[in-house]
Amino acid sequence: MVRCVARVGWHADTYVLPDRAIGPEGSEEILYQPAHDACHYWRVSGTLDEWRAQVGRLCSVNSRLVLAASCGFAGPILKLVGAESGGIHFHGVTSTGKTTALVVGGSVCGGGGNAGFAQTWRTTINGLEATAEAHNDGTLILDELAQVDSRDAAEKAYLLANGQGKARMTRTIAARRKLLWTLLIVSSGELTLAEHASSAGKQVKGGVEVRLINIEADAGRGFGLFENLHGVESAEQFVHLLKQAAQHCYGAPIRAFLECLVKDRTAAERKVRALRAAFLHENVPSGATGEVKRVADRLALIAAAGELATEWGITGWSVGEAAEAAQRCFLDWLKRRGTTGASDVEAGFRQVRAFIVANGSSRFQATGNAAHTTEGNDDVPVVRERVGFRRWNSRNEEIEYLIFPDAFKEQVCKGQSSRAVLQELDKRGFLVRDGQNMTIKARLPEVGSARVYCIRGAILGGDDAGPA
Ligand SMILES: Nc1ncnc2c1ncn2[C@@H]1O[C@H](COP(=O)(O)OP(=O)(O)O)[C@@H](O)[C@H]1O
Ligand SMILES: [Mg+2]
Repeated sequence: MVRCVARVGWHADTYVLPDRAIGPEGSEEILYQPAHDACHYWRVSGTLDEWRAQVGRLCSVNSRLVLAASCGFAGPILKLVGAESGGIHFHGVTSTGKTTALVVGGSVCGGGGNAGFAQTWRTTINGLEATAEAHNDGTLILDELAQVDSRDAAEKAYLLANGQGKARMTRTIAARRKLLWTLLIVSSGELTLAEHASSAGKQVKGGVEVRLINIEADAGRGFGLFENLHGVESAEQFVHLLKQAAQHCYGAPIRAFLECLVKDRTAAERKVRALRAAFLHENVPSGATGEVKRVADRLALIAAAGELATEWGITGWSVGEAAEAAQRCFLDWLKRRGTTGASDVEAGFRQVRAFIVANGSSRFQATGNAAHTTEGNDDVPVVRERVGFRRWNSRNEEIEYLIFPDAFKEQVCKGQSSRAVLQELDKRGFLVRDGQNMTIKARLPEVGSARVYCIRGAILGGDDAGPA
């Protein structure tokens, strides 16, 4: 008997693709019957040998290309090891090779669309849900983040990472089946997701940023995204060669990979765990935060998928090449990130500093010596929507900003956890405390005695690590 399923991906030990199901010998026959149309390019062109010789070969010694291709193999691995949806986002200026990397990575799975296997960010929420489910347990590639309205970007990324669609009613008021997916996501754009969303005043929670790891497209070798042009004269020609190859040979690698995978899933799972552990052991600095570990773990999983594909003779890369590529990208990520604080806390800290920079004289009323120093100065701005006071601390020879707790919470830390931000300010030495209290007691004009947060003016210096 043939079983019909509405979703691609794993069904017990069988992996269902739109045109065929790949299962261990003797497993039941499964047929894919989607409930509604969804855009996907799970197609095949050319043989595995052709892909290996023409596409796989050119990826070699190019960390971003090897990583993108490894992502193509990593989708089906997620469920095997219980990993949640997430992936990478190549960002950087235009014409560095981002779309090319996506076309190359996608050629592992399929092709035939405008950018091969890749989809566009610009769809309706309904369309995005259907597309996500049509790539369930696989790799979803989304080109050009800028095409999605910056106001919707954070929501769409969250939806994808979250793994399930919204419950809806159909026209006949019957509840529609909720769409579900687990995805390895590969995306590209000139900006990072957080930058794009913030241009519309939206914030991306740290959870999503960690799940969509920002990889700088430029590999820093003067060839944009590429590190080795394999003897081709220019990067432009290399792009042309890659695109041409990936547009002719696609789809065979993932099918060969799945055939090996379903033969002995347990053994594959064991290998993935071992490769992942080795990667983490080698690359995660001691004392790293949870965020750094999670990013390393995601890259470890992608590396493991690439290594498995190499071991099964699919990629043509040397052993260890996929892990090295992921390592290169991880180290670049770490370097660019600069600090090892969690990104939400980092964003909160920067927000406080930015608030004081922007409003230091307009929303903080000068008091004490700070007022005297500006006496007789016609440029003293009028204070509106006062959030607190600023005063001169002559002992430390610096300005202090005194902020009312309510204003701190609701305005300065808007959208952030004010508690976490305070702890961070304290940790970096910018919060003046009164013993156990995060606030100090101050005598203020008009207000009298009040408890306020006291932030040292040193925060305005550029040094993120705090005062010495
Ligand atoms: N690394 C590079 N160096 C120089 N030119 C490049 C590079 N990558 C891409 N280009 C040029 O940009 C065009 C678009 O490439 P594409 O991969 O779509 O870039 P992106 O998506 O980063 O804008 C290519 O046809 C090529 O002419
Ligand atoms: Mg592009």
